[in-house]
Amino acid sequence: MLKISTSILNASNRIESIEKLNNTQTDYVHIDIMDGKFVPNKQFTTNEVNMLKKKTKKPFDVHIMALNPLKYIKYFNFKNIEIITIHLEINEDLNTIIDNIKQNNCKVGIAIKPKTDLNLIDKYLDRIDMVLIMSVEPGFGGQKFIENTVDRISSIKKKKPDILIEVDGGINLETIPLIKEADIAVVGSYITNKDNYEEAINSLKN
Ligand code: DX5
Ligand code: ZN
Repeated sequence: MLKISTSILNASNRIESIEKLNNTQTDYVHIDIMDGKFVPNKQFTTNEVNMLKKKTKKPFDVHIMALNPLKYIKYFNFKNIEIITIHLEINEDLNTIIDNIKQNNCKVGIAIKPKTDLNLIDKYLDRIDMVLIMSVEPGFGGQKFIENTVDRISSIKKKKPDILIEVDGGINLETIPLIKEADIAVVGSYITNKDNYEEAINSLKN
């Protein structure tokens, strides 16, 4: 069954949001780290992530949209961080970062932007646990789902049937049926704009 990873990026109060999520069926809490360079937005300090982690009962799924992911990773308290995802499009040696994440006992994901050639990920597929397919341009919550994501999910499934696939951006009750082939759906504003998180999450799971 498709798991839900709730992004608290657009929540009006992140601490309150984390506490509300503790009483829901969300499978993960999704944290969007942005450096203001790889994407035109700056969000979440490592201190904030470590503080929020103390308040959660859910595993964290951390999506790093930054040119230099190790700058953030080195300050993490890894307990309860289940997945760390970095972007394919950065100019760094991804293998070194993959090794570093693995040494800290977290699963490794590589995220790919909507317009990036999917073949560029091939050489990493045997080294990682998950591919995060962006269904919006990274940087902001509340954008519209890009339809060709559906074909991109199928292509990755064909290349490597047992790899986890996460889809991120613009997912709501209407778009979630399109990504049935994936394993994890990141959902932000559709959940955090509502008062009743529990109801929103259950509707997505049904
Ligand atoms: C966008 C982020 C997403 C975002 C999803 O760059 O990676 O995780 O928070 O938010 P919605 O569900 O509102 O598109
Ligand atoms: Zn994200």
